[in-house]
Formats: sequence, structure tokens, C-alpha cells
Amino acid sequence: MNDERVSPIPCLQTRLELVHFGKPQEEGVLRLRRDAPVPVPHGSQVLVKMLYAPLHPADMFTIVGFYPGVRYVIEKQAGFVPGLEGCGVVVAQGEDATIPLGMRVVPLLGEEAGSWQQYVCVEGRQCICVPNDINDTTAAQLLVNPLTVVGLLKEVERLVDLYENPWILQTAANSTLGRMTIALAKHHSVKTINVIRSSETMEELKQLGADVVIVEEQDGQWDRTVYQVTKGKGVAAVLEAVGSEMGSLAFNCLQSGGLYLAYGAQSGKPIRMSNSDLIFKDIICKGFWLSRWFPKQPPHVVEDLFDLFRKRVFEPRIQTILPLDRYLEAFRLQREKNRRGKILFSLQMD
Ligand SMILES: NC(=O)c1ccc[n+]([C@@H]2O[C@H](COP(=O)([O-])OP(=O)(O)OC[C@H]3O[C@@H](n4cnc5c(N)ncnc54)[C@H](OP(=O)(O)O)[C@@H]3O)[C@@H](O)[C@H]2O)c1
Repeated sequence: MNDERVSPIPCLQTRLELVHFGKPQEEGVLRLRRDAPVPVPHGSQVLVKMLYAPLHPADMFTIVGFYPGVRYVIEKQAGFVPGLEGCGVVVAQGEDATIPLGMRVVPLLGEEAGSWQQYVCVEGRQCICVPNDINDTTAAQLLVNPLTVVGLLKEVERLVDLYENPWILQTAANSTLGRMTIALAKHHSVKTINVIRSSETMEELKQLGADVVIVEEQDGQWDRTVYQVTKGKGVAAVLEAVGSEMGSLAFNCLQSGGLYLAYGAQSGKPIRMSNSDLIFKDIICKGFWLSRWFPKQPPHVVEDLFDLFRKRVFEPRIQTILPLDRYLEAFRLQREKNRRGKILFSLQMD
């Protein structure tokens, strides 16, 4: 569907560039550059005028310098623009481009060009066209978290028998991704035990369909609670995004043959796991990375995702929308506990 937000195209644009690795909420790590050139599309490329882009934990890891592959890119290229995803409108085409002007798209961005800028130039085949019934702010967070949730649950279904034991456990359950996991698990009749840090969002998670919510600060030995809930069996799988003590306790909650699937590292600390559990309980330990999983999927995985939005299984929430020039405030808000949704940058500030 064409969008009227097509013209005019300026010569210069505003973008957020990485100056050096460091804490994103500190002055001088990033800079707002207001005179970056707007690229010109050639061949099958299109120019996308970006509308919204979220702040993801992986963006924070990139800026700090922890994300694999990025250090190399930054060393080679001054003015690296972070931002994993976002949505925009096609406003110019190369001679051979097939995506029409005005089409709303989610560009699949590589390591050279992130989403925290007003214009990006990408190959047409690297664009996912956004259906009319998905709004701009949802489209801006269409892929990274929702596809990861789909992938995580597919991995669980592939590696453990959820008919035998329908219970799974997730840490960081109040995250945007954790909330979607609750919703998709409920949609598939999989029962969830959800571990959160504090009780403020407990009722919201229950309303989303969480079967059990455990609050870490209220229940220091919550692994025992998990065994009570599962009648002594433990859970079939753990979806783990924290590490540290929380991840270690989650590992202890697995049934024999259970799956420990790590996909995040919010605490930055490792977990403890015992060799005897690995040997005698035959635990499967695995990591999940969307960048590795997604390219191996059939094209209909994105269409299936749109259906989950249409059925309102996925309804990503927004905490705050801020213009790019309030980036320091955005990074400070990103670090606050008990957020109820994503922080988005609004990229057309003027
Ligand atoms: N592997 C992949 O391919 C992949 C893809 C997408 C996302 N992810 C990962 O998925 C996770 C969630 O992403 P998101 O975008 O949904 O995040 P988000 O909305 O920004 O939420 C972050 C969550 O992390 C929790 N948290 C932060 N520090 C913590 C700590 N020290 N101990 C316990 N909990 C802590 C927060 O808890 P409170 O609610 O208590 O504040 C919050 O719920 C991230 O780790 C991200 O890197 C991985």
C-alpha cells in the first residue's frame, strides 16, 4: 500500500553515530550528526525514509562492544550507525528496483547501516513489505523479538516432548520478548512458569496468559516452587535470557532430558551448571541466535508472523517514543526496571 510520506528528499540527514565503545547513556559515546549525506539508490536498491526504530538489548551490547562481529566493523568504518531494526517508507528507487514508491517496509539491515538514522539505502530484496493492517510502531519492532519467540518455541517443540510435560520456564519474563512468549505459548497450549525480578508487573503477565509468575525478590528458593507446580517433575525446557543466579536456578528446574535454551545475557554473568546434572539428567544445552536461525527458515515464516499479529497473539507494547536528539534520555529509560514495552526512536523529528 502506498504511503503519502514520500517527498521531498533532502541532501543531508540526522543520524546517531558511535564515537567509541562505552556505556550508551554516557555523554560522548554516541554523537548526533545532523549533516550526514542521504544516500542515492542504484540498481535494485531503494531509499527508505525511516519512521521508527526501537532500542533493543542487542543495540546496547553493540555500543558497549560485546556484540560479535561489530568490533571489526567499527574499526574499519568511522561513523557506524547502530540500530537493529525499524520501519520506513520507500521514497526513491534505483533504475531496476521493483518495490513501489510509498511502500512501507522493514529493511533487513546488515552491519554497515543501522536503523537509527533518517534514511537508509538497501537492496530491494532486503526489504519486507508491511501489510496495511500493521501500524508503523508495530512494524518497527516486527521482526527481532517476534521471530525469536517463534524460533525459540519451534526449538522447544523440536527437542522436547511437550505432550509428556507441557511446562516450560522463562527468565526475564517481563521483557517485550518474554511477554510475547507468554502469549504464543498460551496460543499453543504450552504452560509457562515466568520468573521476574519484582512484583510490579505480575498481574499484567497473568492477564497475558502466564500460568505461574514467580517473583525472585519474594521467593529466594523458587526452584522448589517450580517442582511443586510441576508435581515433582521439573520443566521440559528453560528459555533463559539472564544468566547469573537466576539462570543457575532455572537450570536446576529441568526435568531429565530437559532443554536449557539460552538466548540472552541480561546480567552479563555466567550460570553454574553441574556435571552430574548434565550426565545423569541428560540435559540438552543450546544457544539460540536469530541471525543464525532466520536465514534457514522457509519464506512463509514471515507470513505466519503477520498472521500472529492479525490474530492479536502478538501485541507489542510501547513504553515511550522519543526523537533521536533525546537519545541520552532514551538510554537512561532503557535501563529502568519494570518497563512495560519498548522505547522507540521517532526518526522524522523535524
Ligand atoms: N538470541 C537472539 O537471537 C535474541 C533475539 C532477540 C532478543 N534477544 C534477547 O532477548 C532478551 C529480551 O529482549 P527484549 O527486547 O524483550 O528486552 P527488553 O524489553 O528490553 O527487556 C529486558 C528485560 O531484561 C530484564 N533484565 C535486565 N537486567 C536483568 C538482570 N540483571 N536480571 C534479571 N532480569 C534483567 C528486565 O527485567 P525487568 O522487567 O525486571 O526490568 C527486562 O524484563 C534480551 O536479552 C535480548 O538480548 C535475543
